[in-house]
Amino acid sequence: MPDTNVDLSVTLAGMTMKNPVVVASGTFGFGREYGQFYDLGQLGGICAKGLTLNPREGNPAPRIAETPMGILNSVGLQNPGVDAFIAHELPFLRNFDVKVIANISGNTPEEYGIMCEKLAGAGVDMIEVNISCPNVKAGGLAYGTRPELAAEVTQMAKSHAGKVPVMVKLSPNVTDITLIARAVEEAGADAVSLINTLRGMRIDVNTRRPILKMNTGGLSGPAVLPVAVRMVWEVAQAVKIPILGMGGVSRGEDAAQLMLAGASAVAVGTALFADPYAPIKVRDELGQIAQRQGLTAVKELTGQVKPW
Ligand SMILES: Cc1cc2nc3c(=O)[nH]c(=O)nc-3n(C[C@H](O)[C@H](O)[C@H](O)COP(=O)(O)O)c2cc1C
Repeated sequence: MPDTNVDLSVTLAGMTMKNPVVVASGTFGFGREYGQFYDLGQLGGICAKGLTLNPREGNPAPRIAETPMGILNSVGLQNPGVDAFIAHELPFLRNFDVKVIANISGNTPEEYGIMCEKLAGAGVDMIEVNISCPNVKAGGLAYGTRPELAAEVTQMAKSHAGKVPVMVKLSPNVTDITLIARAVEEAGADAVSLINTLRGMRIDVNTRRPILKMNTGGLSGPAVLPVAVRMVWEVAQAVKIPILGMGGVSRGEDAAQLMLAGASAVAVGTALFADPYAPIKVRDELGQIAQRQGLTAVKELTGQVKPW
């Protein structure tokens, strides 16, 4: 447990978590593997692997490539489908004292609606609407790069999610992320999460082939942290709804930067691949930073950057 007296609890769109550290969608599966390392109840929340209405096999391999200070992935939403999640994975996650956030991707606004209805009925704590996956052909990124489509998906999700808060996950692959953030806020989103991965590419110089079978993929890991901090800062000034910040967090200081920029909570993703304990360390270091700065609660960091 954290060795500070600092209050680590935060509230995100009405959902109270015992600490601000969430694990990012697609980097933690449904928690079973990491649950062998520690009690999942030590986390603030778990964003489950991205779900689709029907099961998906994902993209052909290779679909992960290392990069300087990060990775490229083109996993393509491999998942067992929303019904299998509700039947087999959600009951497992419910064994732990942790908030469960279901992450969904649809091919049409209607699919988002159907999934929200099923998940709200099953009692997840929050729904994260992924409108920003760069690795799927249909829907995916298109919804996240056009304000009117982002708004349509948000409205559809909200009208089918009942009382369950809806958080919309924004793409960094846009010229002005605040336009999308404002569009989903106006459409009723309860929170936004950002950033998803940045589109990138690697090429094998000898074979002249891209490393990834899909040619391009999404960049994540420490390399993207400054982009995430900048975008969270911009979005925090553009909207009133709370922000779950992510992108390259591997230390408490990274998480503190995102919170100072305006995030109410943070997610850890790629860092898990190098160190399964990364989110626990981030939580403890965040508490230590807050204590060193004389704060009584870690939430006092949110939005407190002092721009020049
Ligand atoms: C292998 C992999 C799979 C991912 N799958 C999903 C997904 O299914 N849904 C989603 O919204 N984001 C997905 N993401 C994006 C992450 O949730 C996160 O937004 C991004 O990786 C930035 O955080 P990080 O640098 O801490 O990894 C995936 C990322 C990686 C690396």
